[in-house]
Amino acid sequence: MRTIVIEDRFAAWRAASLAALAEDLRPESIQWRLAETGAPQQQASLDYTPDSRSPAAASPRMAEVQVSKELAALLKDAASFRDPERWAFLYKVLWRWHHGDRSVASAADIDGSRLYRMAKSVRRAQHDMIAYVRFRKQRDTQAVPEYVAWYEPDHDVLEWAAEHFAQRMGRSSWLITTPRGAAFWDGGALHLDARGALPGDHRYDSEDEAEALWIAYYRSTFNPARLNEEALEQHMPVRFWKGLPEAHLIPGMISEARSGARRLAQASGVGSLDGKVIAVEAETAQPVREPPSSLDACRRCDLWRHATQAVSGVGPARARIMLLGEQPGDQEDLSGQPFVGPAGQLLSVAIERAGLSREQVYLTNAVKHFKWEPRGKRRLHKTPAQREVEACYYWLERELNAVRPAVIVALGATALTALLREKVSLRDYVSAPFEIHGGWAVATWHPSFALRQQDESARDTVLGDITRALVRARALANPTPSPG
Ligand code: URA
Repeated sequence: MRTIVIEDRFAAWRAASLAALAEDLRPESIQWRLAETGAPQQQASLDYTPDSRSPAAASPRMAEVQVSKELAALLKDAASFRDPERWAFLYKVLWRWHHGDRSVASAADIDGSRLYRMAKSVRRAQHDMIAYVRFRKQRDTQAVPEYVAWYEPDHDVLEWAAEHFAQRMGRSSWLITTPRGAAFWDGGALHLDARGALPGDHRYDSEDEAEALWIAYYRSTFNPARLNEEALEQHMPVRFWKGLPEAHLIPGMISEARSGARRLAQASGVGSLDGKVIAVEAETAQPVREPPSSLDACRRCDLWRHATQAVSGVGPARARIMLLGEQPGDQEDLSGQPFVGPAGQLLSVAIERAGLSREQVYLTNAVKHFKWEPRGKRRLHKTPAQREVEACYYWLERELNAVRPAVIVALGATALTALLREKVSLRDYVSAPFEIHGGWAVATWHPSFALRQQDESARDTVLGDITRALVRARALANPTPSPG
């Protein structure tokens, strides 16, 4: 068995393979291993040539192999396919060809078809990267790089795409970071770093006017009457959305289209036609929908589309106190449990200070799916719209009827709005408990409001208010019997 150590790149594999063919090494007698890449930055010019540092490239004996143009392109593309076995597999293809077996380049051959599939998948990833990388101009006009982008390619196509952008973006400097490497164009030369992002996280330091224009343009081209969701998601797969500035518009535009904009847009065309006007009751014109059989199956609004899962309430089936939040956050969405993230931890502090325990209370949210917008790699909380709160009242009402708490504590404006089923000002309600659903309600701040305070004393004040509201809820839930 021979071990061949190469750098994880096509040029190194090619040189090593030609040397191995010169020795007539059979594919099954070679173990391909990757060299540790210690160098912080490899440099590549646009006309990149094989790496002369590769051990095999220094070998004096190289086989002369003539492959068809098509096979050469297939090998080159398939080399970017993410598979630890790729170098061994590509050598097997080359070895078969070198020994006169031309069927290896046919899609009907077992190796040939694997090669075609790999190349196809890589070409798709190359196309996606060109289509979905979004450069953002850095806020600091003197900054180098001037433009930055974050992207998560499906295969190792960063170098290929970087060369594409280098040829098209002139002398502007830019940086593309990916989970497996970064490419930096300084205006004249391309620098590749296979180890990860280059120093500094530029992803959020951007205030790009062009981006604002692009978003405005994107919105203006959207025609709800012609919306075809399947085609949209096929052309712009959801997995790329987090890197696209325009993507956060899409769920809202789709749900607007569903909840009326589509009909309105069509109506303007239909309305301009001559004919007799027939009055139709809006209520009866709505399609009749089956009620969802479970929270997981809920499609009453569009938030399910981009949430990991619905997060239902937790706590004793007949808890005396129900704490009502706004909606699950990032951590709740991933874990499926309410109030487990930073706001939940602060709420636990208030619960304990109020002489209660988490196990005693029923914890739930007005909206059961996480609503968010992409910001770089993060999912930023987005306040639910009134129609989403209304749609989710279906589930809250069920919880209220099942648990029948003596006291409901509304944490924040969305919870209060959900409870009262109308938009109100939280400040008008925080001062005194009020009666609702045959029990009491106490309104207070949401714990994330405390987290957003700039200094510690302001945070403590808000936390104190929440604690006092919980103390009040406790007293209302367990009234002391009047003497006599
Ligand atoms: N904020 C909420 O309102 N609810 C949660 O479950 C978590 C954060």
